Amino acid sequence: MEERIMHYAIYSLLGVLLLLSCSKSLTLDKVVNPTEDSDTTLVQTAEKAPNQQILKDATLLKTVSDSLPIIESRIKAAAKIEKSFFDSGIDHADVRNTDFFGPHMLTSAKAVDIASVGELFSGVTKYAVEKLNIPRQSIDQQLSKRIGILDERCPFSNVPDCTRSAASRYRTIDGSCNNLNNTLWGRSFTPFERILPAVYDNGVDEARQTSVLGGPLPLARKISSQFHQTSLKDHFEPDLSHMNMEFGQFLSHDIQRNALSTGTFGAALDCCGSSEPESRSKCLAIEIPADDPYYSQFNRTCMNFVRALPTPKLDCTLGQRQQLNQNTHYIDGSQIYGSDEQTSTSLRTLSGGTLKTGGDATAPNLLPKDTNNAANCILPASDANVKCFLAGDVRVNQNSALISIHTIFMREHNKIAAGLEALNNGWSDQIIYDEARKIVGAMLQHITYKEYLPEILGDAIMNKYGLKPLANGYFNGYESKMNPTIKNEFAAAAFRFGHSQVHDSLKYNNKAQYFKDVFLNPAIIYDTAGGVDSITKGLTDSYSQKVDERMSSHLTRHLFERKAGFGGDLAAINIQRGRDHGIPLYQQMKTICNVSSNVHEPSVWNALSSLYRNPSDIDLFSAGVSEKPVPGGIIGPTFACIIAKQFEALKKGDRYYYENSGDQAFTLEQLDEIRQTTLSKVICRNTGISFVPTNAFIKDTNVRNQKMSCKGVSAIDYSKWKCGWSNWGTWTSCVNFIQVRLRTCKQQKPCATDFCTGDVFEIQKCGSVRNVEMPQIEAKIEQLRAILVTQQNNYDIMDVNTAQDILQTFMHQNAV
Ligand code: HEM
Repeated sequence: MEERIMHYAIYSLLGVLLLLSCSKSLTLDKVVNPTEDSDTTLVQTAEKAPNQQILKDATLLKTVSDSLPIIESRIKAAAKIEKSFFDSGIDHADVRNTDFFGPHMLTSAKAVDIASVGELFSGVTKYAVEKLNIPRQSIDQQLSKRIGILDERCPFSNVPDCTRSAASRYRTIDGSCNNLNNTLWGRSFTPFERILPAVYDNGVDEARQTSVLGGPLPLARKISSQFHQTSLKDHFEPDLSHMNMEFGQFLSHDIQRNALSTGTFGAALDCCGSSEPESRSKCLAIEIPADDPYYSQFNRTCMNFVRALPTPKLDCTLGQRQQLNQNTHYIDGSQIYGSDEQTSTSLRTLSGGTLKTGGDATAPNLLPKDTNNAANCILPASDANVKCFLAGDVRVNQNSALISIHTIFMREHNKIAAGLEALNNGWSDQIIYDEARKIVGAMLQHITYKEYLPEILGDAIMNKYGLKPLANGYFNGYESKMNPTIKNEFAAAAFRFGHSQVHDSLKYNNKAQYFKDVFLNPAIIYDTAGGVDSITKGLTDSYSQKVDERMSSHLTRHLFERKAGFGGDLAAINIQRGRDHGIPLYQQMKTICNVSSNVHEPSVWNALSSLYRNPSDIDLFSAGVSEKPVPGGIIGPTFACIIAKQFEALKKGDRYYYENSGDQAFTLEQLDEIRQTTLSKVICRNTGISFVPTNAFIKDTNVRNQKMSCKGVSAIDYSKWKCGWSNWGTWTSCVNFIQVRLRTCKQQKPCATDFCTGDVFEIQKCGSVRNVEMPQIEAKIEQLRAILVTQQNNYDIMDVNTAQDILQTFMHQNAV
């Protein structure tokens, strides 16, 4: 403790010295108003021509400049203290020594760098709020000016150069340059946005822990154990397969990956390891009540929980604490390909456009092996050959069902790459990779909007938000003002509804494998009895649980459990994460979504509200997941509203949405081909499974969903991607011994424009030509050729009927 005070004193002194040295450059700092082009040296201007707004800006600038060295020294002091937890062995360099360490805690170094600036911005905001007496409700508005000295530090102040990618047919790997006016929208390593301002205890960054009536909120673990407990009997969703759950998780990993705090040198924080966990600003340990129905038998009183890392806002202004998405926000297959160049390159063979594969003779064509075990999986001691897997998202190994879906889509990419290469278009590895990635991304979007979302949201909401794909033609609904960024309320609450769908077990080889045994477990993927096939078949053959307040004990007691009694509780984590992120209250979201009052069964509402001092305190996750479902859907109206708005933004705010027209577009015939995609077909093409339900999300026990044979399922029709001449069309009828046929040159992107040489049409003699007529006919053919050459410029593509007309008119005038 004394050491901490000493450090603090030294750093405070250093802060004062820094402040003095800063004061000279202070007057040269610029305050940039993002709505204006010109930079203004506000302090100097204020001295010459004071007016209220400028003085206010100048005051803010001075406050910020004053605060910077103070906050920086506080951060350094805090880092020293954090290091002491590492040095004393409380935090673990070997992350596997931390209770229920999971892959969601594998934070990248880049996120940690951004967070160091986020921490600074939060500190400065708090300082300014206090010094300038800014009311809580208007923190972000009052601090909405960009300030040069903060801009210099802000990771988002340099916008990417999009001149090359603007016209590109392909998305960038990191999602930048999609929106050409806001080039950072949707990029990986950018903040989540919010529907409503955050609700923090101090208005700026402290997790919500206080009731609106004062006093503490109910403990997250208490709400979980009393409200989110597992039902005794199965409460499955009668129509939906467990695949519905698993695809939801796979999709979630495409669009979001929160960045969680790490310790010194990337160690795993152990927030239960120190005697004063509340003194660690990165910790928000979950308290376990002494009378806990499960954990008390293990005398466990604390569950590890680290706070999500802070990030500056995308516009680099000060304000409330925000959280960081490490993945691209778009539905673009980034869980398969990665969200940054380095990851994407590391997953490629760099030959034939294919992705790397792993596996062995008995279990071939698996994902590449994570030979260094960077994902920290649980590997069997008995088989050194078994390794975890690499994919675009590090959480791939979280459970064996997720690994299976990843494997299937990796195979689909490679299948498409091989199909494209076989067309002999002369495409390079890069073009084949890009085009195959584009097709797989489009398939994912099609499956999401056509098959997955309708089961979640129901028909009426799909229609209301314009989420249904078209049957044909282009979608002309791109809106450049629509911000696709993932909303915090969606990531930290609404889209976690899927946690309630998880069954106690995975069906595998016709037996039930408890979920707790498939966490971080690659071994069953290598199983000769079926691995990926068997798990995938099990997902379509078993039910999803109902979306309600109940969650499987495998998630609420045994999450990533390594030692009996020391697993995690995902319901408690969801509630605590909501408080950590300052997620708005359930009542606020209900109001903004215009949801009427009676959306819970009375017994459910009573059970939930009785846990809180006041209904206004109720956490969004708990109340949202327990609402009665909307007609035709499986979630309640508040979550449906948040989720529908998000998927609307992901569709209309994505320039590369697969149904869009434009420079980047598929041709209409390619688009029709993409529209044939179903998840079941993708499964058929990439596993040895013989029968699947026609719609993989619905159980085949449902009359609307018969089983289909995989035998008839072919690969996509690659001919739609072939460059050069199409096959010859049919001959026109024979007119006076002459007939014509046509072909077209397919030089859509990415074909090279000089791909076709030769004629668009071919003319031949027909009928019984007598020798004497021959020279005449040959002369006519030459004349007709000249006419067709001239005429074809009048048509985009000349069709056979036009050719027939031209032939007839010509022969009428020049009969042989
Ligand atoms: C076996 C199944 C699953 C397990 C074990 C699991 C586990 C987890 C864990 C440990 C987290 C991190 C929690 C935190 O620290 O805040 C998480 C986050 C999340 N999960 Fe799941 N999950 C599963 C399935 C699903 C499904 C089916 C969905 C949706 C349909 C889903 C949606 C989410 C979302 C949206 C997040 C937040 C992601 C982020 O922002 O990083 N999960 N899950």
